[in-house]
Amino acid sequence: MENLKTPCLILDVGRVQRNAARMSDIAHRNNVRLRPHIKTHKCIEVARIQTEGHDGAITVSTLAEARAFAKHGFTDITYAVPIERGKFADAIEILQSGVKLNLLTDDAATVIQLDEAAGKAGAEFDVFVKIDCGTHRVGVEPDTEEAVEIPRALADASNLNFPGILTHAGHSYDQKSKEAILEVARHERDSMVELATRIGRQGIAVPTISIGSTPSMSTIDHLDGIDEIRPGNYIFFDNYQATLGSCSFEDTALTVLAAVIHKGKNRMVVDAGGISLSKDRGPVSLDPSCGYGRVLDVDGNETGLRVTGLSQEHGEVATSENEDRLKVGDRVRILANHSCLTAAQHSHYHVMENGEIVDRWEIHRGW
Ligand SMILES: Cc1ncc(COP(=O)(O)O)c(C=O)c1O
Repeated sequence: MENLKTPCLILDVGRVQRNAARMSDIAHRNNVRLRPHIKTHKCIEVARIQTEGHDGAITVSTLAEARAFAKHGFTDITYAVPIERGKFADAIEILQSGVKLNLLTDDAATVIQLDEAAGKAGAEFDVFVKIDCGTHRVGVEPDTEEAVEIPRALADASNLNFPGILTHAGHSYDQKSKEAILEVARHERDSMVELATRIGRQGIAVPTISIGSTPSMSTIDHLDGIDEIRPGNYIFFDNYQATLGSCSFEDTALTVLAAVIHKGKNRMVVDAGGISLSKDRGPVSLDPSCGYGRVLDVDGNETGLRVTGLSQEHGEVATSENEDRLKVGDRVRILANHSCLTAAQHSHYHVMENGEIVDRWEIHRGW
């Protein structure tokens, strides 16, 4: 580790395997398809670990991820951001390269536009209807007319199919206790099952109900009525998830290796700034002193220090006046607040097994 250029990512492969096995087990026990969201890591090798023992279905957040993963044999892909006409041509090209590319929408006009574009290209898409189960980011609310009318429009379209409804309980991250997360998780599940029943009563089949965020899937009691789950962050977890209680700190699998570049009276500076950690404020509502990440020693042990300030490539760490454990040139590992955003700033992982760097895995970024 001493020879690695800093800042860089350290991926603890043993922990990744453990996290993958735990979620895989949740999916198997509940008899649901696991379609992990690979936006957390954007890495082929990690996706292979995650999908072992499953059918290889994945979720992506960009069409660039869809292309990269398709090239490496992942051919059942849900692009889980609402589609818009500027991306139709790319989506058609990916579909026609032999990938089952599932799309999603919450917009009736887009259904008409996409049906026409697909028809012209001789393509046929499965298009999920995105439901808002409480996050209020995108999606139609389950108790609205649209939540039945858009499925009907898809079912009636010539070049589109209605494969089902899809939601993501992003608001599970805003909760302050495990009980509150469980309540959100139950609502995510139950509101979708109720909506599928309502759509079904109109004579429209709902083959798949797809749900899942890491906090909700880590706490859910059962998944009766659900067909598919799409958690992503669980593969690495992070300071946010550990503080929230979705995992323990021993489960966190991604850290940023950084070097101390300055020591002052009550502070030191490391070479990991906003562009290598991200400026995600993480669990600040639960832990006001969380800063931008926990400073660990090179072996991954807590030092009690936090990254208290960030500029582009400088990370400031508040210390006591007599902090003498670390000197300029020493290495630390930072457990960042949000692993998905941290990973997306880098081009590769250094893979660590039993404390040794054993490999280097690429990160497929871009849009
Ligand atoms: C549509 C969708 N599905 C699944 C996920 C995965 O959620 P998480 O990373 O909390 O597991 C996300 C994350 O933002 C998402 O936007």
